[in-house]
Amino acid sequence: MTKTNDTRLPYDPRPLKDLKGGELQQYGTVVPLPLALETAACLASVGHLNQLQADTMTLRELYKKHHWQVSGPSFYQLHLLFDKHFAEQSDLVDTIAERIQSLGGVAVAMAHDVAERTLIPRPPIGREGAPAQLARLLHAHEVVLKEARTMASLAAEAGDDGTNDLLVGHVIRTNELQVWFIGAHLAETHLLGDELKIQYTTR
Ligand SMILES: [Fe+2]
Repeated sequence: MTKTNDTRLPYDPRPLKDLKGGELQQYGTVVPLPLALETAACLASVGHLNQLQADTMTLRELYKKHHWQVSGPSFYQLHLLFDKHFAEQSDLVDTIAERIQSLGGVAVAMAHDVAERTLIPRPPIGREGAPAQLARLLHAHEVVLKEARTMASLAAEAGDDGTNDLLVGHVIRTNELQVWFIGAHLAETHLLGDELKIQYTTR
């Protein structure tokens, strides 16, 4: 009888870390799902939502940039507010992405793909003052709101009520509320009465 030195395990525990595969689904296509929606309607909504996704992800990152870089007398208040809005935009990003996937599409996800698609102007890598940060955020919100309103109408016309609901109930309302909170910081204020202000500025 011969002994064997066979120490092989019944399975190979080494992770298959070098596995590479092609794409399962190309960007810009939709998989037909039993949604009682025309494929053309799904394709149109997916295209619109991916543009909105790129802009919402950019707005989200703008909030985090400002959260880190803000300075001045309102530092602590803005530091907290920017992070709150970042979290709310982050929730929108997830909601939009999952809507795209549920329509059979592929959601844009990575920073370089987002950068190629967004319509929001690129901010400087350096630090801006709080008023410039606030004005930049207001413009970014306006870009998102303008496209979201158009997309909501088009989705309703195409019978895609789910997308219309998401755009109106989540994207538009969240952005409108954030515009109020950001815009209020840029309103002109008179800490002194007008008479006192004139005396103060002309002395
Ligand atoms: Fe933080």
